[in-house]
Amino acid sequence: MSIVYLEKEKSFILQAKEATYILRIRKDKYIEHVYYGRRIEKPIISQMIKDKGRASFNANPDDDERFSLDTMRAEYPAYGNTDLRIPAYQVKLDNGTRITDLKYESYEIVKGKEKLKGLPSLTGNGEQVDTLHITLVDNLINLKVVLSYSVFNEENVIARSAKFINEGNSSLSILRALSMGIDFDHCDFDMLSLSGSWARERHVVRRGIVHGAQSIESRRGASGHSENPFIALMDKDANENRGEVYGFSLVYSGNFLASVEVDQYDTTRVVMGINPFDFSWKLEPGEEFVTPEVVMVYSNAGIGHMSRTYHRIYRRNLMKSKFKDTERPIVINNWEATYFDFNEEKIKEIAKQASELGIEMMVLDDGWFGKRDSDNSSLGDWYVDKDKLPSGMYSLAEDVKSYGMKFGLWFEPEMVSPNSDLYRAHPDWCLHVPDRHRSLARNQLILDFSREDVREAIIKMLADILSSADISYVKWDMNRNMSEIGSALLEKDRQQETAHRYILGVYEVMDIITDKFPDILFESCSGGGGRFDPGILYYMPQNWTSDDTDGVERLKIQHGTSIVYPTCAMTAHVSAVPNHQTGRITSMAFRHAVAMSGNFGYELDVTKFSDDERVYIKEQVALYKSIRKVIQFGDLYRLESPFDGNDTSLIYVSEDKKEAVLFLYRVLSIPNGPLRRIKLMGLNPSYNYKIGDEAIISGEQLINYGINLPEELSTGDYKSSMILLIAQ
Ligand code: DGJ
Repeated sequence: MSIVYLEKEKSFILQAKEATYILRIRKDKYIEHVYYGRRIEKPIISQMIKDKGRASFNANPDDDERFSLDTMRAEYPAYGNTDLRIPAYQVKLDNGTRITDLKYESYEIVKGKEKLKGLPSLTGNGEQVDTLHITLVDNLINLKVVLSYSVFNEENVIARSAKFINEGNSSLSILRALSMGIDFDHCDFDMLSLSGSWARERHVVRRGIVHGAQSIESRRGASGHSENPFIALMDKDANENRGEVYGFSLVYSGNFLASVEVDQYDTTRVVMGINPFDFSWKLEPGEEFVTPEVVMVYSNAGIGHMSRTYHRIYRRNLMKSKFKDTERPIVINNWEATYFDFNEEKIKEIAKQASELGIEMMVLDDGWFGKRDSDNSSLGDWYVDKDKLPSGMYSLAEDVKSYGMKFGLWFEPEMVSPNSDLYRAHPDWCLHVPDRHRSLARNQLILDFSREDVREAIIKMLADILSSADISYVKWDMNRNMSEIGSALLEKDRQQETAHRYILGVYEVMDIITDKFPDILFESCSGGGGRFDPGILYYMPQNWTSDDTDGVERLKIQHGTSIVYPTCAMTAHVSAVPNHQTGRITSMAFRHAVAMSGNFGYELDVTKFSDDERVYIKEQVALYKSIRKVIQFGDLYRLESPFDGNDTSLIYVSEDKKEAVLFLYRVLSIPNGPLRRIKLMGLNPSYNYKIGDEAIISGEQLINYGINLPEELSTGDYKSSMILLIAQ
């Protein structure tokens, strides 16, 4: 059992692989945080308790001058008592008051971890994980809150969530229901977040925390391009390979908040969950509300160790797809090759030529349905455009298959174009507010997935198409943020539930469709990486990382993405030059080397290649097939960060450490530069490795001395080198 309760100390000790987490019941009613950090086999809890009387401004609820909730380190801080720091929850009663008083009632420790109801979440069997449920109750109104902690004993992972249960006779409004809270007893932390924009997603931002609150959040209706639902707190001198790091990753795809508040006594409070901004949830008697889950990862060996833990746990215990452990196919996608301007012959020609190069999956992108010759029509009309594809979808899929390839299709199921049959028939099916303007973005509105009738109609349309032909892959796109948020069917005191209900609806549709079509590999997309979050990964085991396929930009985007997300989830394609987003011209070799460090494919017109290019690409495709297992499922060690300078390097190492692939990149040439070597990581020091076709070098030397940077990097811009290491 990785969780024990010590009766005498009234404390719970949670033991993850290398981390210990301790909380206790204080004064028989409050839940106090005691410790989170490096594993302590036999903690003496009495020696960890610190108390100090404070000025009267910190009120004491129990006539105990040395105790105040405003200074106690809380596990799930309330609004409504004397803790005046940032709360994890706030509830409004039907008499308009906002005071609740939740006290400890009971606990339960169970083996295993079940999926959260209606929400994506980690799962695990009784051998992998134990779960602690602590029940708090407000006896005046019979509100219960259950705090859940699932401890993965072979990983440094603890997953937390909260459940509100109204056992009273009156309805309540939840104004804030974050998933977790934790109070660290110092503030010597840096905070890491992944920030960006469309075409510049998940850039690594590191800042020192200061007194007051510092937050990242989304108010866009989706997790969004600009902030990812992830933060880490870490030692000020922690780096990629050293120091304590605490990761917090929210398994949720809608509006979120991650807030870090340093108080007057240097306590650091972290809270994370659904963004309380424009949120409330009416809870009728007998109803429950479950928060999404935060996956906390502890690392005592820097950011890299944290990342590898997230990669494993998200691959093994989050993704439900049968493809989670399967080598992912090399895709050719026609978007940048044709945009909307294609016909059956063109798609078949791309597929045929791609197949001759060894590419495995043809994905037909936007424009195959309704009358969609540009982005101003037809979303919602999910039937084949016979002008473009006169033989229909079945026949096209069969033709593609006859070339030895599989066939995939793009959808944007959550959207509707005002210029569509669907919108003309159901103008109230979109998110909107009566009598208010409906703002368009990319000429489209968002379907109201909080409505069951809308969800049913879309499920039917998708299922019809997916059953009509042999479709092996779906790219599920989503291309706008929410505005004028309201639902025609929700009562007026439930309108602030719309955004969360929408996401729950998206999850339900994704669940039904992915269950109904388990043999389809689903790729999520949101204008590139605008919804690249763990919530979506539960349903769809890969995500289009960014619309920006420029090799130089991708170094940063992929590095940032890899902080949390596994490589098999990160699709990366070679596109044409000049690059469509940046106008930059880089070599074919550089673009391949960057894309090959992810889940590899192409996004260009293969029919335009010269003979020499075709030979080169054929070789690259064959090469990737031979190494993709190590790349997609091996352990990633980031050696040099693109955020630190001109050189980037990373290595993937297989689980048995017998194979590795090293990627080296230099963006701009350095004239007359120094001779450099790079130390490798993750290898077995006692193995001897064959390096490319040349030398055999011991793991020990590769780790301690490293390898000299290859000559090919020394002149010219946008240079790369890819080196295979095989243990002899
Ligand atoms: C945005 C996606 O990120 C692109 O890859 C492409 O699918 C377009 N949408 C199509 O409209």
